[in-house]
Amino acid sequence: MSDRLYIFDTTLRDGEQSPGCSMNIEEKLRVAHGLSALGVDVIEAGFPIASPGDFEAVQRIAKEVQGPHIAALARAHPKDIERAGEAVKAAGERARIHTFIATSPIHMAAKLRMSPDQVVQRAIEAVMQARSLVAEVEFSAEDAGRSDIDFLCRIVEATIKAGARVINIPDTVGYMTPVEFGHRIKTLIERVPNSDEAIFSVHCHNDLGLAVANSLAAVEAGARQVECTLNGLGERAGNAALEEVVMALKTRADHYHIETAIDTSRIVPTSKMVSQVTGMPIQANKAIVGANAFAHESGIHQDGVLKHKQTYEIMTPESVGWSTNRMVLGKHSGRAALTARYTDLGVALDDKGLNAVFERFKKLADKKKDIFDEDLMTILSDDSEVNMERIKLVSLHAASGTKDAPVAAVSLDIEGVRHKATAEGDGPVDAAFKAIKSLVEPNGRLLLYSVNAITAGTDAQGEVSVRLQNEDLIVNGQGSDTDIVVASAKALIAALNKLPNMHAREVHAQYSGV
Ligand code: KIV
Ligand code: ZN
Repeated sequence: MSDRLYIFDTTLRDGEQSPGCSMNIEEKLRVAHGLSALGVDVIEAGFPIASPGDFEAVQRIAKEVQGPHIAALARAHPKDIERAGEAVKAAGERARIHTFIATSPIHMAAKLRMSPDQVVQRAIEAVMQARSLVAEVEFSAEDAGRSDIDFLCRIVEATIKAGARVINIPDTVGYMTPVEFGHRIKTLIERVPNSDEAIFSVHCHNDLGLAVANSLAAVEAGARQVECTLNGLGERAGNAALEEVVMALKTRADHYHIETAIDTSRIVPTSKMVSQVTGMPIQANKAIVGANAFAHESGIHQDGVLKHKQTYEIMTPESVGWSTNRMVLGKHSGRAALTARYTDLGVALDDKGLNAVFERFKKLADKKKDIFDEDLMTILSDDSEVNMERIKLVSLHAASGTKDAPVAAVSLDIEGVRHKATAEGDGPVDAAFKAIKSLVEPNGRLLLYSVNAITAGTDAQGEVSVRLQNEDLIVNGQGSDTDIVVASAKALIAALNKLPNMHAREVHAQYSGV
C-alpha cells in the first residue's frame, strides 16, 4: 500500500535566504508558477514581516498562483502573524500561516532570553492567533534537532491542542544523523498523546551533507510532509533538495511505498528556472539536475548503457525532464506555439510578458537555427531588457586577439541620455565591464561571474550570471546571447539596474566620445 507525502517547497523563503539569492517580485511569481506546475503541495512564499517587498510577493503569489497551498512564515510575534495572515488571505482555504519559535536550550537562553515555560506560552498564543486568521496553521520548533525531547513533546502537544494542524521538526543547524533524527520523529509521534491530530513535517539543513538522508529517515519514521528546496538552496549549506527526496522515493518505491504529487518530468526545467533566476549555478555532478547526472564517460559504462540502459541508470533522464528531443521552435514559430511551449514548461505569461519574450525569441531565432527548451527558459530570465527603465545597452563592440590589448567600446542609454565609453581590460569581458562601470555609480563590487553554455554547439547561447554587492545589498543579473561578451554586458547591466540610486556618473575617465 502506498502512502502520500506532502512536498512543502521553501525555495522562495529559506532558498531565498541563500547568500546572493534574492529575487524580485516578478521572479518570485515566475518561480511560484513553475512550482505549481511541478506539483508541490505547499509553496512557502516568503516572510511577510521581513520587508514590504516580501509582503507584496507573498500577497501576489497568494492571489495569482493556483493549486498549491500558500504559506507565509511568521515568528511567534503578534505583528508577524498579523502581517502573514494579511499576505496569504487571498489564497482563501489554501492559506497557511507557518509560525515558529526556538526550543533548544541554547536558542531559548542565548537568543530569546526566555524560560521554557514562556516559550510554550508564546507558542500557544501564536498558534491561537494564527488560527483566528486562517484555517491551516503550521508550528515549527526551531532547532528541534538540539532540543530536549521531553520539552519537545510538551510543546508539540500544547500547539496541537491550540490548533496547529502541521507540526514541523526542523534540524535547523544540520546537526542530526539519520538514525537519530528518525528516532526523534518516531518518539514524538508515539509519545505525544494528540499526535494523530496533526501531520508531522521535517525541515533539514545540509551542514553535514545529511539533509536528504535525514528527511528520508524521518519519512520512514512517520513524517508525512518534507520541507525542501529546488537545487538544495537555503541558509548556509542549504536545505534538503526537493529533486533528491522525490526521486529517492520514486526510484525506491519498493522500499518506501510513499507517493508524492510531483510531476517528475518537470524537475529539470524548474530547477533550471530557479538557477537562472537566482544566479546560483548547479554543480555539474549534482544528483538528478546536474549536467553530468546522466553522462556516462568511461568506456565500460558507455558499453554497458548501450547494451542495456539499466546497467548504469537507475532512472531515465526523461523521467526527470532531461528530454532527448529538445528542439521545439524556430524562426517561423509564432506566438501561439511559443505560449504553448511555455505552458508545457510550467511558465504562465501575461500579455506584457509574452510580448517582451516574443521579441527576444525572434532576435534569437535570427541568430540561432534551433531553439531548445533551455533557450526558452534563458530568454525568460534575461532581465537585461525587462529592467531597462534606467539603463539600457545600445551597442557594444569588443576586440581581442593574441597581440593587441583587449578593448571594448560601449554605448548606454542611462535614464534616456546617451553615454559612451571605451576601456581596455584583461580580456574582452573585463574591458566591457570596465567601460560600463565607468559610466555609472554606484557600480558595486563583483562577487560572482559565471558563464554557462545553454545547449550544445558553437552557436549555443551563453548564459551569464553576475552578482554585485553595494554596501549591504547583493543583487544578481542574468544575460544571454550567442555572443558571450554581449551576454556578460547584459548581465552586468541587469544587476546594475537593481541597485537603488544607480545613476550616470558625471565625469568618467574613459570617455572617448565614440
Ligand atoms: O531552519 C529552520 O529552523 C527554519 C524554520 C523557520 C522552519 O527555517
Ligand atoms: Zn531553515
